[in-house]
Amino acid sequence: MNIAVYPGSFDPITKGHLDIITRGSKIYDKLIVAVLVNVDKKCLFNIEERVELIKKVTKNLKNVEVLSFEGLLVDFAKIHNSKVILKGLRTISDFEYEFQMALMNSKLNPDIETVFMMTSSAYSYVSSSSVKQVAKFGGNIEGLVPNELISEIIDKF
Ligand code: PNS
Repeated sequence: MNIAVYPGSFDPITKGHLDIITRGSKIYDKLIVAVLVNVDKKCLFNIEERVELIKKVTKNLKNVEVLSFEGLLVDFAKIHNSKVILKGLRTISDFEYEFQMALMNSKLNPDIETVFMMTSSAYSYVSSSSVKQVAKFGGNIEGLVPNELISEIIDKF
């Protein structure tokens, strides 16, 4: 079984993330969305909330599982029998950081391959932090996050 891990903070999940999850779920037998328990980063949603929001919007994707993780991503991937880390690339500016992480992960475990998928052009400008900023100041986040999460995000502010 070809299992991929799609990691992130997902604070909160955006339509850009969901696009990668949906497309990734068609390529791999199983896709594990790995939600980082951020210890040093202040998150708007706690780990349980972030996992629940992702479960809610991926419930129709039967081969998608949502789990939280702490520590090294390559260790999480190995425990879950995955040899693929799936990442979305939006822009050139993502590249440097992602390339560095891919090389570090490959150094930590050469058996695990990082695979990049280009984000759909419709979402190339969407990020969790920009969504939070727009929501904070009362802007419209429709189209940026899955519709069923809009009120939960707005309620946080
Ligand atoms: O959504 P984010 O915050 O950009 O996701 C970053 C993430 C979770 C992919 C990254 O921080 C990560 O993999 N953290 C786990 C720690 C780790 O394995 N570090 C070594 C690679 S640099």
